[in-house]
Amino acid sequence: MTDQLQKKTKVWSGRFSEPISEKVQEYTASIHFDKKLALFDIQGSKAHAEMLEKVGILSNKELNKILVGLNQIAQEIKENKFIWKIELEDVHLNIEARLTELIGEPGEKIHTARSRNDQVATDMRLWLRSEIDIIARLIQDLEKSILVQAEQHSNSLMAGLTHLQTAQPITFGHHMMAYHDMFARDYDRLLELRKRVNCLPLGSAALAGTSFKIDREFVADKLGFEKVIDNSLDAVSDRDFILEFLNFSAILMIHISRLSEEIIMWASDNFGYIDIPDEFCTGSSIMPQKKNPDVAELARGKTGRTIGNLVNILVLMKSQPLAYNKDNQEDKEPIFDSVQTVKDTLDIFSAMLRSIKVNKTNLKKPLERSYITATDLADYLVAKQTTFREAHEIVSRIVTFAEKENILLRDIPLKTFEKFSKKIEEDVFEILDCEGAVKIRNHIGGTSPDQVLNAVKKAKLKWQAFLKQ
Ligand code: ARG
Repeated sequence: MTDQLQKKTKVWSGRFSEPISEKVQEYTASIHFDKKLALFDIQGSKAHAEMLEKVGILSNKELNKILVGLNQIAQEIKENKFIWKIELEDVHLNIEARLTELIGEPGEKIHTARSRNDQVATDMRLWLRSEIDIIARLIQDLEKSILVQAEQHSNSLMAGLTHLQTAQPITFGHHMMAYHDMFARDYDRLLELRKRVNCLPLGSAALAGTSFKIDREFVADKLGFEKVIDNSLDAVSDRDFILEFLNFSAILMIHISRLSEEIIMWASDNFGYIDIPDEFCTGSSIMPQKKNPDVAELARGKTGRTIGNLVNILVLMKSQPLAYNKDNQEDKEPIFDSVQTVKDTLDIFSAMLRSIKVNKTNLKKPLERSYITATDLADYLVAKQTTFREAHEIVSRIVTFAEKENILLRDIPLKTFEKFSKKIEEDVFEILDCEGAVKIRNHIGGTSPDQVLNAVKKAKLKWQAFLKQ
């Protein structure tokens, strides 16, 4: 390209005596990633043009030409026919240039009372809002997959762990519902932050607002924004709506990562709790016996990106003076990446989770090997008027004895129990049984099968109410 031509293609190069160097052009351009915003840019431009016509800045004829032109551009983009030019820097200037090419002068008027600063902030909010709505549905699907497992295994016994050591018997359904509740909070967090994404920056222009008599409420209404952002400096420069989303994604992915870690352990020979269908696993090129839980491992691995993206934008924002700075162009790739990661992971994860087969026999095995009902024995003594400290002491002695004799608590004869405490009677065997220990924890939040089914029911009612809205 000749210098002459290059100079002309820059909308802002009027006062520049030298053309921009090719290196700088490449370094500063964002078109290779921000073209993702194209259809939202067009949506924003249409609303802006309609407002300009309403307040008398554009004639009805000009508006119609602009709308026809923008529709054609949208079509070209959808059909992959649009030619993106790096010398036009970003998505906004590419679309504006094409509009002028198509319709002439009215195209040159569209940027009246607007700047790329309020334009890009608007595009990002429109794009993120639509992604949030997709992600919200994907979280619902994941929650439903968890409910399927929880309901099916409301009374499947397993060892609950603390410090990864066998602690107390629980139900698999209860374990699943713990994750359900984490994802339900993620969902709430997402809808909460959506309100703050759904606000209109347009009208703030470069930073100070505009001298034209614009109608921001009209634009907000057209674009479905809940409110107009009050302060123009804030509107063009802050990216806290992106930070909130990245924070949400990092927390959601941490929840998925924790569950992945368990799935990976459970699927190993050492646990043998679950079988993951072949379609979600891969084999080893060298060890034919292997079936690797790749989906869960990758989900755990991808969590790192989402945490990294959050830290990235936190650092991007921390020293920026008001108002817009070009630094903000760097907000896009990290959030594009987090959105894609979250969508892909939720999608594949809920399909996998739904199809996992639980091996109830293996799930129960650690219960049979351990003194898992020792706490219940202590509680039993407390119920019979022993202080908790004393009960703890008695049970420690019983466990030491059982370990030495290599027998389970429930196999200790009553006569022997009586030597440790006269308060131990025949009914002790009910609580030494894991099923009994689980059943008795029957209060809101407890692990009993009844409570698991209640929790499942409550979650389902929530969805029904939601669907009716
Ligand atoms: N591509 C830019 C961005 O993503 C658009 C805004 C540019 N504004 C400017 N004053 N150079 O942030």
